[in-house]
Amino acid sequence: MSAQFPVARPRRLRRTPAMRRLVAETRLHPADLVLPVFVKEGISEAQPVASMPGVFQHTRDSLRKAAHEAAEAGVGGLILFGVPAVKDGTGSAADDPDGIVQQALRDLRSDLGDEIVVMTDLCLDEYTDHGHCGILTESGEIDNDATLERYASIALAQAEAGSAVLGPSGMMDGQVGAIREALDGAGHSDIAVMGYSVKYASAYYGPFREAAECAPQFGDRSTHQQDPANADESLREVFLDLDEGADMVMVKPAGAYLDIVRRVRDAVDVPVVAYQVSGEYAMIEAAAEKGWIDRERTIMESLVSMRRAGADIVLTYWATEVARRLA
Ligand code: PBG
Repeated sequence: MSAQFPVARPRRLRRTPAMRRLVAETRLHPADLVLPVFVKEGISEAQPVASMPGVFQHTRDSLRKAAHEAAEAGVGGLILFGVPAVKDGTGSAADDPDGIVQQALRDLRSDLGDEIVVMTDLCLDEYTDHGHCGILTESGEIDNDATLERYASIALAQAEAGSAVLGPSGMMDGQVGAIREALDGAGHSDIAVMGYSVKYASAYYGPFREAAECAPQFGDRSTHQQDPANADESLREVFLDLDEGADMVMVKPAGAYLDIVRRVRDAVDVPVVAYQVSGEYAMIEAAAEKGWIDRERTIMESLVSMRRAGADIVLTYWATEVARRLA
């Protein structure tokens, strides 16, 4: 008789919402979320990003408001991207003490102090007229080491304006070390570095290039960003960044690379960050808009999956909305 019926019944622990909540292995918490924000120079009103419904290129004032809302909702951090009014070959607005990101940093630090962790993306693509992440040689190739000197200078400008965490995203060899050395040499040993250590050459960045106005004018980023076919080199990139002094390491994009998040999580003892990028956001918003998926459930599932894969911290454009829902 007993053989007819299952002895083990996993469904017992799935019966009610209260039971499911009790046995959940992974939880989302507002403090683990970071909101990426865009601030644009020379506009008088926030401008919607067409391919990312709900995301704006902010004015300094509208950014202050968005930052307050995020802090109020308990979001753990903000990461700032700047869109300067004028771009040139060397991205000189990036390390101008009065450049848009440096101005916005001072605004946010004076409004919020240490209430929320204010971070900055550190790259050149938003600032160069050619849209590449570095300085170009005469033949149009990226000059890795000349770019490192620029990154070091941007690091100092961002540190002096009040960034608490610098996120070098250009995938130049040696970028974390160059930044760490510049910071320490100038008395900024307390500023942390979050390496965009594992960053793939991804089509999922498409909408971001509209938001940050940084599409490369020729060529692509596959000579510095990683090939989606490769996994082992991700660990090599992570260990290089840790040797150079990274305090946290990122995997980007997140959704299509959860295997990499898990491998990195199992290999290191620093916080692992996953970046749910613009294309991941846009796909869910677009499908939901058509009524093909349940927007809120899909958002929550995508984020809990990143945490389950091993991410301690998740960068998501839904950070404020999700933090409010969790409250
Ligand atoms: C480079 C940078 C990019 C993103 C973050 N930092 C774009 C790129 O590498 O082309 C993409 C983020 C996203 O898609 O949400 N500064």
